[in-house]
Amino acid sequence: MPSRSGSTGTVVSRLETVAPDPEPRYKPIMTTNGDFGQDLSAHWDGVYRNKAIEDVSWFEEVPAQSLSMIKDCGLALDDAVVDVGGGASRLVDYLLREGYRDLTVTDIARSALAAARARLGDAGQKVQWMPGDITRIDLAGRYRLWHDRAVFHFLTEADARDRYLATLRMALLPGGHLVIATFGLAGPERCSGLPVQRYDAQGLASVLGPGFSLTATVVRSHVTPQGREQTFTYCRFRRLAR
Ligand SMILES: C[S@@+](CC[C@H](N)C(=O)[O-])C[C@H]1O[C@@H](n2cnc3c(N)ncnc32)[C@H](O)[C@@H]1O
Repeated sequence: MPSRSGSTGTVVSRLETVAPDPEPRYKPIMTTNGDFGQDLSAHWDGVYRNKAIEDVSWFEEVPAQSLSMIKDCGLALDDAVVDVGGGASRLVDYLLREGYRDLTVTDIARSALAAARARLGDAGQKVQWMPGDITRIDLAGRYRLWHDRAVFHFLTEADARDRYLATLRMALLPGGHLVIATFGLAGPERCSGLPVQRYDAQGLASVLGPGFSLTATVVRSHVTPQGREQTFTYCRFRRLAR
């Protein structure tokens, strides 16, 4: 079980080069045009500042399905792994405990990354924390695994999806693995006040295109801390060699 507390430790990550916002800047977003810029990060920062991490609807004590699919990728412990839009997820805690040594967590909400880093204490110093919008971030092309749970489905506009896919193709090595989970076809139509695009495995395969081969899929029900069930589509893809 990961620790829920810890010290902030030495300055080693990109996250800590960014001064935290002194005041919450929560501003609910009521419409979507696929290009929120600053407003989108303010929205997500506000979500994390206004709720306990254990109370957000997507909270998982143990990210079991993600861990199972990652295990099946057969990675080496020094393979580079990125959790895209990882927020304050405990996935990174479990991957550290399993011995992975090259972990990156990105998220548009700095407050979420700061919470995860604080929770991990000294162990958090081994992680590269990268605040930023995944549709605009500059990720090095060295990752063997790209993990995304409940982020891609927020991209309801084609140009935002295209930018995400461009980042994915840049960052993930040929032969690398993509583990992705979105709301399923029977899942919610909105989350955190934002509309989502729901997918089944075929829909995800189609949006990813011929450069990715579907290697596993499962539909899972997530029970929120408030007791509601949400249908998720989990998929594992392999990026084909160039
Ligand atoms: C539903 S939460 C899921 C968090 C985490 N993946 C998990 O499973 O616990 C969605 C996350 O995506 C982040 N996010 C939303 N849009 C993003 C974007 N364009 N770029 C990066 N992160 C984004 C949010 O800040 C939030 O942490």
